[in-house]
Amino acid sequence: MKQVLDYIEDNSTKFVEELREYIGFKSISAQPEYKDDTVECAHWLADKCKSLGLDTYIFETSGNPIVVATTRKKTAEDKPHVMIYGHYDVQPPDPLELWESPPFEPRINNGAIYGRGASDNKGQNWVYVKMCEAFMATGSLPCDITFLFEGEEEVGSEHLPEFLRTHRDMFDCDVAIVSDTAMPERNVPALTYGLRGIAALEVEVIGPSRDLHSGIYGGSIENPGMALCKMLSELRDSDGRVSVPGFYDDVLPLTPFEREQFSRLPFDEAAYKELLGVSSLFGEKGFSPWEQRTARPTIEINGITCGYQGEGSKTIIPSRASAKLSCRLVPNQQPELILSKLEDFLKRIRPPGVQLRILKGHQGNPYMFQPDSAYAKAAVRAIERTFSKEAVFTREGGSIPIVNDFKKVLDVDTLLIPLALPDDNHHSPNEKFDLECFRKGLKMGVLLMDEIRGIDA
Ligand code: BES
Ligand code: ZN
Repeated sequence: MKQVLDYIEDNSTKFVEELREYIGFKSISAQPEYKDDTVECAHWLADKCKSLGLDTYIFETSGNPIVVATTRKKTAEDKPHVMIYGHYDVQPPDPLELWESPPFEPRINNGAIYGRGASDNKGQNWVYVKMCEAFMATGSLPCDITFLFEGEEEVGSEHLPEFLRTHRDMFDCDVAIVSDTAMPERNVPALTYGLRGIAALEVEVIGPSRDLHSGIYGGSIENPGMALCKMLSELRDSDGRVSVPGFYDDVLPLTPFEREQFSRLPFDEAAYKELLGVSSLFGEKGFSPWEQRTARPTIEINGITCGYQGEGSKTIIPSRASAKLSCRLVPNQQPELILSKLEDFLKRIRPPGVQLRILKGHQGNPYMFQPDSAYAKAAVRAIERTFSKEAVFTREGGSIPIVNDFKKVLDVDTLLIPLALPDDNHHSPNEKFDLECFRKGLKMGVLLMDEIRGIDA
């Protein structure tokens, strides 16, 4: 083990330089003009895996390529088989003017590497590729590893579930590992045992057949912008509860044990407000901010478009208005059901004189597992040995929809091991990944392989 850790120490500069290259690819899955850059990124990643001696495959899909790399041979001794998942696609970087340096020209500053995807998720998955390199360069791995990298996580992982089903044998593993969540705070190591699901929808309000002069016609017909605002304002009440009928029907209540765990998590309200740049907090009454953002469902407006957006004014009644909405869901809410309840509600509160067009978007199930299996215990030990500190159990508010398919299709739990920090600016300008987290992640990965080897499966 010492040799492996020494190799990491000796090669840390090289690892970071390679990570810089990785972050340099504009693998923005939401924007078709970056398709070539995204494909190039997949090939770069596959080449890196191949150069370690992993059997590496690139699977084309009608979306972005899936990269699979494995140490597993048909004739293998019976080692535990671990699947490690990550995504090489990133969110769009805009608004560009708020970045202190260009998002795809990674910069190292104050002990962190800055760039789009630094933490979500390139830095966090690069940890495992380099952990693998350290083992292979100094001997052999205690476990078999199969990497699964996708390029569509940030747009809902459309092609991955089907791929998993048709390539089930490759992923016939004992446990899955994903580092794509955040620690509650620096030096507060955690194991994440739950993720929220997602159900997204776009609603378009359609009014007059064209934009109209607001002086000539204003006051005589419904304005689509006003109608949309009226509808959106009815989505939740002043206690922060979602008003869609039946929305809470399947929500699993927090257990007293969970509430106790949540109450122990560090929370400094002033620092939280400062971090987010807000003057006060708002959320569902009766729940703490930790509970609100990870274990209770919510509905959010992600974007609104209507009327004239250019400089100066243009006095019109816009012909259309639209909003992108998304709900974050908790066990046992079902995305499909929630979307149909939301659709029914929107139709019911539609003001007269406008029509609605509703387009359903991403759907991802919430995830939760009992963190008391031998693998979860191994993860907790590896985390605690790395940080010399007790790990806390957390749930997360974000979504990684494929994790649910790992359970459904492969029948394995996913150990969600956060390496990111809460101020890493996921999906925001100036995203970063802390290099101390990178180093700790490498050590944790090594110890985790060691702990998993010891499990009597
Ligand atoms: N890494 C995030 C998910 C995340 C971040 C979970 C922080 C917990 C803490 C992931 O890349 C992500 O952003 N997922 C999307 C999925 C969606 C587009 C289907 C999300 O949550 O918005
Ligand atoms: Zn993300």
